[in-house]
Formats: sequence, C-alpha cells, structure tokens
Amino acid sequence: MGNVTIVGAQWGDEGKGKVVDYLAREADVVVRFNGGNNAGHTVVIEGEKFIFHLLPSGITHPGVKCVIGNGVVIDPLVLIKELENLKAKKIDVKNRLFISDRAHLIMPYHKAIDILREEKRGAKKIGTTGRGIGPAYEDKVGRRGIRIYELLKPELFKEHLKDVLEEKNLYITRVLGGEGFDFQKIYDEYMKTADILSPFIKDTSRYLKKWIEEKKKIIFEGAQGFMLDIDHGTYPYVTSSNTIPAEVAIGAGVPPESIGTVLGVSKAYTTRVGGGPFPTELFDEIGNALRDRGNEYGSTTGRPRRCGWIDIPALRKAVEVGGLKGLIITKLDVLSGLDKIAICTAYTIDGKEIDEYPPDVNDLSRVKPEYEVMAGWKSPLSGISSFEALPEEAKNYLQRIEKLTGVEIYGVSVGPDRSSFILRKNPFIS
Ligand code: IMP
Repeated sequence: MGNVTIVGAQWGDEGKGKVVDYLAREADVVVRFNGGNNAGHTVVIEGEKFIFHLLPSGITHPGVKCVIGNGVVIDPLVLIKELENLKAKKIDVKNRLFISDRAHLIMPYHKAIDILREEKRGAKKIGTTGRGIGPAYEDKVGRRGIRIYELLKPELFKEHLKDVLEEKNLYITRVLGGEGFDFQKIYDEYMKTADILSPFIKDTSRYLKKWIEEKKKIIFEGAQGFMLDIDHGTYPYVTSSNTIPAEVAIGAGVPPESIGTVLGVSKAYTTRVGGGPFPTELFDEIGNALRDRGNEYGSTTGRPRRCGWIDIPALRKAVEVGGLKGLIITKLDVLSGLDKIAICTAYTIDGKEIDEYPPDVNDLSRVKPEYEVMAGWKSPLSGISSFEALPEEAKNYLQRIEKLTGVEIYGVSVGPDRSSFILRKNPFIS
C-alpha cells in the first residue's frame, strides 16, 4: 500500500480532478502542492458539476482530509467563495481542511500586474489566466511575498503590506499605467478573510509526516501539466510553478520517497489554452469537432481551448523527466465516431527527425509532426466498465500509446461523470 501522485502530462486540463476524485474513494488524504486558482479541477457527481480552483478534488468525500500545501499560492477571497459553495451543498470541511501556514498569498496587486502586463505584451502575451499567479510566485522568490500565517498576526501583516504596497503602487502606476491600491481597503478585506480561514491554517508538513507514519493513503494532486512547468515546459509560455512530480516534495513539504506511485494524466488527444507552440494543433473541422464534443472551454476562464492529436514526443518527455510509472487516459469517448485517429510519433525540422525535445519555442513552433494513422471506432463508450469491453480499435489505440510511451495505462475515462471511469490497475497497490 502506498501513496499516489497524479500530475498532468500535457498542457493542463487533462481531467486530473476527475481522476483524483475517483481515486479519493480509497484515500485518506488529498494534497494540492502547486499552482493556485489558475487551476479548475472539475468533478461531476451524478450530473452535478463541481469546479475546484484551490480546494483539493477529494473534498466531496466526507472522510477525506484535504491539504493545501506550502507550494500553492492562495487568493483568500477565491478560497472563501469555494468554501461557501461547499457549505451551500452541505459539504462540511471542519477538521478536514488543512492550509499550510507557509503558503503565499495572492494579493490584489498581483492580479492587476498580471493583467496589465499581458495587455502590454500585446501579440506576445502568454495568455495567462489573469489570476495573479506569476506575480505572486515572483514575490515569493523575490523574498517579498506575504505568507498566509501573517493573516493571523495583524500587526505583522500591516507592516509587511505597507512596505510592499508602496513599491507595487509605484510600479503599477508609473510602469504599467494602472491604478494604485489603497492600503486600508486591502488590509480590511484580508483581515476579514483571516477570521474565516484561521481555523484551517496549520503546519501541514507535520500533519503529513504523521499521516505518512500511520500509513494513511495519500494522493498528491498536481495542477496544470508537464508542458506548463516553469523549468521543463515550453518556456516562456508556461505557468510560474513546477508542475512535475518532483515538486510534490517541495510544495507539500514531504520527503521525496513518500510521493508513491506517480501517474500522468493525458487526454486521448491534446489541448492547450493560452499562447505558445502546440505541434499537433488542428485548425480544421476535426479540431473544431474535438472542441465541441469535448466541451473544450476553460473551466477557469471559459476560453476556447486549442485542440489537436495526441503528441507522443511531448508525453515521452513528461514520462522521462517526471519518472511517470503509468498514464491515465481521459476523454477517450470524445474520439468515438471518428473514422481515423492520428498519433504524432515524432517531430521533424527541415525534413530531419529530431530526437531531443527543443528547449527553444521558436524551434518548437517550426517542428512538423509525423503521424501514424489508426482506425477509429463507431460505437459510443458510455456504460463500458472494463478495459476488455472497449471496442477493439479503442484497445489498439491505447495499446499503441503504451508501446510508444513505454508505460502502462492504469485507467481510462469514458465520460464526464464520476462513474464513467475504468480502473485497470490500482495505483495504491502497484
Ligand atoms: P498562469 O498560470 O495564469 O500564469 O498562465 C500561464 C499559462 O498557463 C497560460 O497559457 C495558461 O493558459 C496556462 N494555464 C495555467 N493554469 C492552467 C490550467 O489549470 N489548465 C490549463 N492551462 C493553464
């Protein structure tokens, strides 16, 4: 018995929320360790849709403890809204939500800087979610960030905010041409959040240490995906945190050996939202069909997602760097009805196959995907509950992905609801 780490193996939006929710039925604890409310993890339970931006996707399971680790950047106003939504649905979080005292806060000026910078970048914009994620992580690394425990120490918070705000207001007004922020307004607003959040703010590493010793089953829930990792992704078109499994140890504050079985989640095709290269992007009716059938619109921003075929060189890189033991393939049902399905098996530049994943986005935007075409399947997949019962063509497609990536497929999702999931191999025991 061990722990399980679930990360995105593509450009985010792979369906990690659904996978974590499914596996959480067997777990004791679910932990978020990176990102912030740029994430939008969707869980559908008997037709009812929940979108979690900060809360771990195990939160709807009454017995499961949920941790927001130190590596997450927290907008307290968003978190409170999520807690209110849960309360309205009669989901109690008392004694089972733990927020790391060391997590950094997203402040109103972070959001403003994020949005104003993107406007300034014009055509070169990254396409961020506008939630202040990058500027909050910049302040963390720049050693001027405000951590959530400071909300519990009003005098400290006041002094820190005053110091930081002066510089931020100068930057926002003089460099970015925006409007400055009023100290008192932010102070009052954030102090109100302190009253609500204080019971949850803890040294979460200590709790996790205890649960690890007690051999509780823990799921570490990644946000975004491999190709959005600040170091290993398609820089600079990436998010500002590390999204790979190695970040679990840092962002949750646990020993590296406790991260357990590491699985990457990949859609049966590929999507990307925001700017940056996307080698297998489709601009034709198949791309549009994938967007329509897969409802490929951002769960955080509502933006239409760019769609394309599955990209093996990108997945291989995620397997290699992340040390993924296996994959979980989601949205297989979206491909039903297509005559042919293409798999990108390699990239070429100027007619020559490249075997390294290019670090330069200019090169990556020039690569030509090489495709292998497989037969599709006609019948819908809804209601199928075992791997064996999938249409032969679907099984062939999945087996081909296994062969090309070199790792096993542990599970397949065949529809949005919690019940539309086939677990082929239990990651807690293997
Ligand atoms: P940021 O994380 O808001 O700074 O956005 C940086 C890039 O990451 C943009 O291309 C976003 O669209 C992308 N991104 C951030 N979070 C997610 C996510 O949860 N799913 C998919 N893309 C994301």
